[in-house]
Amino acid sequence: KTLRKAVIAGNWKMNKTPAETTALINEMKPLVANADCGVIVCVPFVDLCAALEAAKGSNISVGAQNCHWEKSGAFTGEISAFTLKEMGVEYVIIGHSERRTYFGDTDVTVNKRVRAALDAGLTVILCVGEYLEQREQGITAELVAMQTKIALGGVSKDELSRIIIAYEPVWAIGTGRTATADQANEVCASIRATVAALYGADAANALTIQYGGSMNAGNAAELLAKPDVDGGLIGGASLKAPDFAKIVEAAS
Ligand code: G3P
Repeated sequence: KTLRKAVIAGNWKMNKTPAETTALINEMKPLVANADCGVIVCVPFVDLCAALEAAKGSNISVGAQNCHWEKSGAFTGEISAFTLKEMGVEYVIIGHSERRTYFGDTDVTVNKRVRAALDAGLTVILCVGEYLEQREQGITAELVAMQTKIALGGVSKDELSRIIIAYEPVWAIGTGRTATADQANEVCASIRATVAALYGADAANALTIQYGGSMNAGNAAELLAKPDVDGGLIGGASLKAPDFAKIVEAAS
């Protein structure tokens, strides 16, 4: 665990205007200034300029919540990874279950987006995770292994240093029904084993694997204390500066 950098990322989803973004990051900055972990806010595309300006000179990095796989072209409404990089964005969430469930993202398109994000020089927060029915069928490990393998297709060992994997059980997202620390650790460990089989133990041990799904100020410490849980991808609790800061503190 000491080999890996803990990373707490806020996924704001479809929330906050540019003015609210500036206010929230300004409130957050002093609360996380002494963090001993990575701190990222992933904001809506229209808030990226405000986020980059507000976070300038702080230890808060800025990420986007998706990107297209083409560099440019006739893709109305889409955003290029290269544009994000040029703006100063450092991270991008790819394959979030909401993109997969509502907007048709598949393991194959996730892999295409990962390729484009890496080619553009971004660091990827790759989301994997099972539906409740899949957990009840007992196929969680196989499923997240498949999602991981397909998403990482064509990714070199060197490029793995710009991949963070976020295990997000879909049944825990936005429900308040957090996975237990043991459940989270078990799947994070199985993802690490999948990466070890693909890239070797050293690369797997250096990989940051986050948990996401109703992580909050009250349960973060227990989850983050687990050996294979290296951080969190935070939804609702990232929209309140004090709550997000408490999670960052628990990871520091
Ligand atoms: O990407 C993080 C998100 O899916 C988790 O949401 O609200 O359960 O923390 P939430």
